[in-house]
Amino acid sequence: MGKKGLSSITKKLIMAVTGGGLVFFLLFHGAMNVVSIFSEDGYRWICEFLGANWYAIVGTIGLAILVILHLIYAFILSYQNFKARGRQRYAVNERPEGVSWASKNMLAIGAFILFGLVFHLYDFWSKMQLAELKGGAPVDGIDQIKFIFSNNYFSIMYLLWLVAIWFHLSHGIASVMQSIGWNNHVWQNRIEWLGKFFAAVIVLMFASVVIYYWLIV
Ligand code: HEM
Repeated sequence: MGKKGLSSITKKLIMAVTGGGLVFFLLFHGAMNVVSIFSEDGYRWICEFLGANWYAIVGTIGLAILVILHLIYAFILSYQNFKARGRQRYAVNERPEGVSWASKNMLAIGAFILFGLVFHLYDFWSKMQLAELKGGAPVDGIDQIKFIFSNNYFSIMYLLWLVAIWFHLSHGIASVMQSIGWNNHVWQNRIEWLGKFFAAVIVLMFASVVIYYWLIV
């Protein structure tokens, strides 16, 4: 722990609070997407509601701030851990018992998710909210979903992206629960299972939309 700057506990808390906020976003985003399976008109209404209206723009800015803070502190914490491990990192490359693959690779998986997010924002957001902000007309949400997921290559890329998101969330959600204080021995195991469970619920909401429009419609 350095003399200046935030303590490492504060930095971990910033990761937990921003990560927790992003999990809530994903719950809403996933649930809204599932509507597209049951009601095309319902989904169109949601897209209109979340277009270039002031509250949707405030939401987008808030979300961008969460993503940027999460990213900056991910690099700061990873760099500190890397420095703290010192020479040991060359001698020890097996993972200790009980440390999951996901928890050791959060930065790399996160980077892959960010890479996918750039493509996702191009596929949807740039043609909807951004297009409207630039004074044009947004594309129809349902048409865009059908267009993207009728393509085998895009559908497979989205499913791979969702697998990475499952790994990241399974460890991330468990970490958030630990940061808010549920870290005793009895709960350790349960927290890990709860993390995996909630991550699966979130990812399956998105995956069901991809699979439905790719293979069923
Ligand atoms: C089946 C999968 C998905 C579909 C069909 C989908 C659909 C959409 C649509 C239609 C928008 C544009 C909304 C608008 O501009 O009005 C959007 C924006 C967005 N999506 Fe997704 N999405 C999916 C998965 C994901 C996942 C897994 C993530 C995160 C890891 C994500 C993150 C975002 C973000 C950050 C935005 C911008 C939100 C904003 O403007 O505030 N999406 N998505």
